[in-house]
Order: sequence, then structure tokens, then C-alpha cells
Amino acid sequence: MTTRVCVAGATWTGRPIAEAIRTADDLDLRAAVSRSAAGQDLGTAWRVEAFGVPVHASVGEALDGVDVLVDYTSDEVVRVNALTAVERGVSVVIGTSGLSANDFREIDQAARDAGVGVVAAGNFSLTAAMAQAAALLVARHLPHREVIDYASAGKPDAPSGTARELAERLDEVTPNAIEVPIDQTRGRPDARGATIAGTQVHSLRLPSFVVSTEVLFALPDERLSIRHDAGASPAPYVRGTLLAVRAVVGRVGLIRGLDTLLVSTQ
Ligand SMILES: NC(=O)c1ccc[n+]([C@@H]2O[C@H](COP(=O)([O-])OP(=O)(O)OC[C@H]3O[C@@H](n4cnc5c(N)ncnc54)[C@H](OP(=O)(O)O)[C@@H]3O)[C@@H](O)[C@H]2O)c1
Repeated sequence: MTTRVCVAGATWTGRPIAEAIRTADDLDLRAAVSRSAAGQDLGTAWRVEAFGVPVHASVGEALDGVDVLVDYTSDEVVRVNALTAVERGVSVVIGTSGLSANDFREIDQAARDAGVGVVAAGNFSLTAAMAQAAALLVARHLPHREVIDYASAGKPDAPSGTARELAERLDEVTPNAIEVPIDQTRGRPDARGATIAGTQVHSLRLPSFVVSTEVLFALPDERLSIRHDAGASPAPYVRGTLLAVRAVVGRVGLIRGLDTLLVSTQ
């Protein structure tokens, strides 16, 4: 059976994902979403030959005949995009960062009510998923941790989806141990970073960084650092996103994290 897919945000990270969907035998790229290319054929928007995929200005206009929405847009619209799709009975793969734990609870409930699946991952890279799986294992044994999120100076949101998801997933394994409570830190408590699900997360936004996530665990007199670095191209996210597109159909409710999906599809 062919799965019909719409890619929202099909001009940057979404572009190689849309290209991979278009060339996959079992997937059919039905529509795309981008405000600047709305009304055009996606091929024309990419400055190649037209190939019969319409681009719409919003997700609400793009879902007719679609089984799965893939969202790589912006933190400002992703929540509404996901809820719009779920309410229309369309499964969703969320790559966009910026959703909070509360947003995910709302999307999970809406997906359960509608009987459709949602897969969301702060990072659809397979190697990032492995780094996260390793961190979840370490957290069972090492109670102290902090997360550093490195990205380019122009990244508009913080923390990154990868760092946020990591902190929230670590908290499900074990609460973080903090010796001096943040609000009792003398001087500038905000220098200790943001508390996300009990873990301090430090977001660096500087030229020369692309996207890296590091979690440091420590015991007295020893440290373990698990770090994932990705380059500037969207290539790392293609395989994991397509895996999610294929896996989300027929599921009900939210699956969070590519590592969770990899385990559940073994
Ligand atoms: N989970 C992962 O593995 C992963 C990997 C890479 C990136 N991301 C996340 O994915 C998101 C997109 O990243 P990016 O680097 O591709 O961003 P980007 O370069 O800003 O591209 C965003 C895309 O979404 C479209 N878009 C933005 N706002 C829209 C709106 N209101 N309505 C319709 N379309 C809209 C843009 O087209 P128009 O401007 O023409 O509308 C563009 O095609 C970010 O949140 C990023 O953190 C996640």
C-alpha cells in the first residue's frame, strides 16, 4: 500500500526529505507547504522541472487525500499544524522543535481521541538517537547530569528540540541530583542555565556552531560525556524521518523520540 505524504516546510530541511519521499516506491508525495512558494508546483519552487506536487500556504489547505503530515516548519506554527492534521485523521511526523511537554500531552490526547499516530523527535538523526539511547542507559546509574546545547548564532529558539527532549526523557528514567538548589545559588542563579524537567540545560548560540548536543554525567572524581555533532546539511535527518513516516501509519497516540521508535519497531 502506498502512503500519501504532505511535507510542511519543504524548502530547507524538508526539501531532501520531500525528495526522498518522492523517489520511494512505497510513498507518494501528494502536497507541500511553504508560504513563499504557495501556489507553485514544488519542482518549480525548487527551480527544477514541475512534477505535479502543489505547494500550499498552510497545512489546513494541504491535507486532502493525505495519510501522513511531515512537519519541518517553525516553533510558531507546529502545534497548530499537528492538531489540525490529527483532527482531520491524518498521522503526523514532527521534526520541528519548540514544543513543550504540555504541548506534547495535548497532541497525544488529540491523537488518541482521533485514533491516529504521531511520531515526534527532537532529532531524527540515527546517530543522535543512539546517543540518546546511551544517555538513558547511563542515567539509570549516574544521578548527576547537565546538558549543553550548541547551535548557530541565528537559531531563533532555545533550547534545541534535541536538548529539550533529552532532558525530559532523562527525567523519566531518574530525577537529576542537584547539590545546591538553583534558587539558593548565590550571585546569579540564571547562570546555572534553564531547568528543563529537573536538568540544567545551557544553550550556546554562537557563529561556527551548527547543532551539537552534549550531556555530561558525573560521579566523584570521574565524568562521562556523550555528545552528538551534526554538520550543516539536512542529510542526517532524512533516513530517520522516512522511518517514522512508514512506522506512524496504523499507530494511535504519540511516540516521542526516534530511539523509542527504533526499539518499538525491532
Ligand atoms: N527533528 C530534527 O531532526 C530536526 C532537524 C533539522 C531541523 N529541525 C527543526 O525543524 C524546523 C525547521 O528547520 P529548518 O532549518 O528547515 O527551518 P527553515 O530553514 O526556517 O525552514 C522552515 C520551512 O518551513 C516553512 N515555514 C515556516 N513557517 C511557516 C508557516 N507559518 N507556514 C507555512 N510554512 C512555514 C518555510 O517556508 P516559508 O518561509 O516559505 O513558509 C520553510 O520551508 C526547526 O524547528 C528546526 O529546529 C529538526
